Amino acid sequence: MAFRNCRWELLAASLTLTLALIHLVEANSEGDALYALRRSLSDPDHVLQSWDPTLVNPCTWFHVTCNQDNRVTRVDLGNSNLSGHLAPELGKLEHLQYLELYKNNIEGTIPSELDNLEYLISLDLYNNNLTGKIPSSLGKLKSLVFLRLNDNRLTGPIPKELTKIPSLKVVDVSNNDLCGTIPTEGPFAHIPLQNFENNSRLEGPELIGLASYDTNCN
Ligand SMILES: *[C@@H]1O[C@H](CO)[C@@H](O)[C@H](O)[C@H]1NC(C)=O
Ligand SMILES: *[C@@H]1O[C@H](CO)[C@@H](O)[C@H](O)[C@H]1NC(C)=O
Ligand SMILES: *[C@@H]1O[C@H](CO)[C@@H](O)[C@H](O)[C@H]1NC(C)=O
Repeated sequence: MAFRNCRWELLAASLTLTLALIHLVEANSEGDALYALRRSLSDPDHVLQSWDPTLVNPCTWFHVTCNQDNRVTRVDLGNSNLSGHLAPELGKLEHLQYLELYKNNIEGTIPSELDNLEYLISLDLYNNNLTGKIPSSLGKLKSLVFLRLNDNRLTGPIPKELTKIPSLKVVDVSNNDLCGTIPTEGPFAHIPLQNFENNSRLEGPELIGLASYDTNCN
């Protein structure tokens, strides 16, 4: 009986150790993902100086917030004079709720890998120099409330998939190079037209059957 108890304790102990190790590896992989972002950005003001990938997890880094399980929930880097690109590795921050990178000078495209962020509440990329299309896969972000992409150089249409996000409350895509028609379905029924202003070829809600519908906008 005593022998069996001892074996049981050993098993429990090794199980705990294994779980702890898994946690550690997970936390490290989030640090690695953020470090990939650091490497893809240019940071003349050294706001990312505390981002040291040799630490157990990124929870003590400036501009990073974690939950009780040491999973990253916020990245706050608005107005930080950053340039460079967004790293696709951001899609690995599975518990991320707030991605704040507004008012920088970031170029390149919005990584479609961000569609993996099922708890993301706020995607604030406004006032940068982003190009390319708004990924239609962002329609998978089922927790999204704030989508602010205004003041960039984004092209192509506003993906219809975004109308399928029930939680969406604020959309601003003004001051880009978007084309096609402004969606009016779902959450888009309540977005003021001003938030679509200053796009070269973005048209108001169309009458069904109009021949010009979405022509020359891919
Ligand atoms: C931003 O960085 C540039 C160097 O790339 C520097 O000349 C400029 O002063 C910085 N601006 C601010 C507001 O820190
Ligand atoms: C955006 O990028 C273009 C080309 O890469 C560059 O000419 C322009 O100065 C950038 N805009 C800003 C506001 O930095
Ligand atoms: C559109 O552009 C005009 C002229 O640059 C500017 O005054 C206006 O504020 C812009 N609208 C929005 C919503 O940013």
